Amino acid sequence: MYSPMPMAEIDLTVYPDECDAFGHLNQASFLTLFERARWEMLARGPGMDVFTRHAVWPAVRKAGIDYHAAAFPGDVLRFGHALTHLGRTSFTMRQTARRPADDVLIATAEFVFVCISREGKPVPVPEPVGRFMATRDANDTGVRRLTVNGVSLAVDVRGDAAQPAILFVHGFPLDRTQWAPMLDALDGTFRIAPDLRGFGASDAPDLGYSMATYAADLIALLDALGVERVVVCGLSMGGYIAFELARRAPDRLRGLVLMDTRAEPDSPDARRNRDATAQQARDRGPSPIADAMLGRLLSERTPRTVAARVRGTIMATPVAGLVGALGAMRDRPDSTGLLADLTLPTLVIVGEDDSITPPTDARRLAEAIPNARLAIVSGAAHLPPIEQPRATARLVADFMAQLDQR
Ligand code: MLT
Repeated sequence: MYSPMPMAEIDLTVYPDECDAFGHLNQASFLTLFERARWEMLARGPGMDVFTRHAVWPAVRKAGIDYHAAAFPGDVLRFGHALTHLGRTSFTMRQTARRPADDVLIATAEFVFVCISREGKPVPVPEPVGRFMATRDANDTGVRRLTVNGVSLAVDVRGDAAQPAILFVHGFPLDRTQWAPMLDALDGTFRIAPDLRGFGASDAPDLGYSMATYAADLIALLDALGVERVVVCGLSMGGYIAFELARRAPDRLRGLVLMDTRAEPDSPDARRNRDATAQQARDRGPSPIADAMLGRLLSERTPRTVAARVRGTIMATPVAGLVGALGAMRDRPDSTGLLADLTLPTLVIVGEDDSITPPTDARRLAEAIPNARLAIVSGAAHLPPIEQPRATARLVADFMAQLDQR
């Protein structure tokens, strides 16, 4: 018997066609929503195709739902998941649906699954599924929620706080799951990957977004975790935040990994584009951003399942977080003046096909920082940790190992 282990929380919106004549979320629709939340959770972990990759299907053997309160069209429900039993061929999950707006528990459910082959015979639970759901120990607790600087942040925490720490800061409009393969690969380090405010499962206040606020959140997060000094690994917008951390808290940094990012501020045109994009998000939600950005984020060689996962992440981003981040990037300070004084060991990484922050820009960035080295990742565009996770993790692991030898 396993003690319940928390996994990713998933937010889903209740639609009118899921409700009955009285406007309540219909009891039968709960089954669909619980199922959608489970798939989304897998999509953010080992991949939605993890079962088919292993020629195994998780058949529901038993389902039970307790209905606690009514939900209505437009409500956003937050689905939590916990593994309560992992057997050889079966597993049991407990799921909860809460409404974060008033913190009301709407329903709880328990599902027993048996893994079966195409012939309908019970077969072992695929190893990556079992690992994803069950192998976190007290020092390696996976996703936590920590309230810092007035917001509740979802944070993936792996490893032991006594190990060299590395803080992963995701790009726009993504979340901590972009680092998942890197977190798995970087054994021997204390890995901290938060959802920034406004992204993923973190709180998304309506106002209060700036590079300074993101950096203050992260410093408070390090304090809450008892981490004194870290290597900051920031991708694109995460790099802008890394520069802000270098400005505000240089004593907390041991090194920098700057991925697919730039030190220059937005041009006047780019600033106007940020405002237009924010207006689109207010009017139509995340889909115009997903449509416009997906092709530029990923190289043409990226598998469709991976692209679908990235799209899912963008589509799940709260509008307040998108609008806030667009304003924060529009108003970010010029960090070029900082570079010559950055004495920290720095690794600049860029995807060879990145058209958003191309390799020529990355070379200029590496040349401007006294103690920096450039690495170009082939087969990647703007998101090397997702497109080429092994090669990218190796670069970061080597950088960490060299730091430890100093
Ligand atoms: C990102 O990946 O974070 C964005 O492309 C950054 C930006 O839009 O400047």
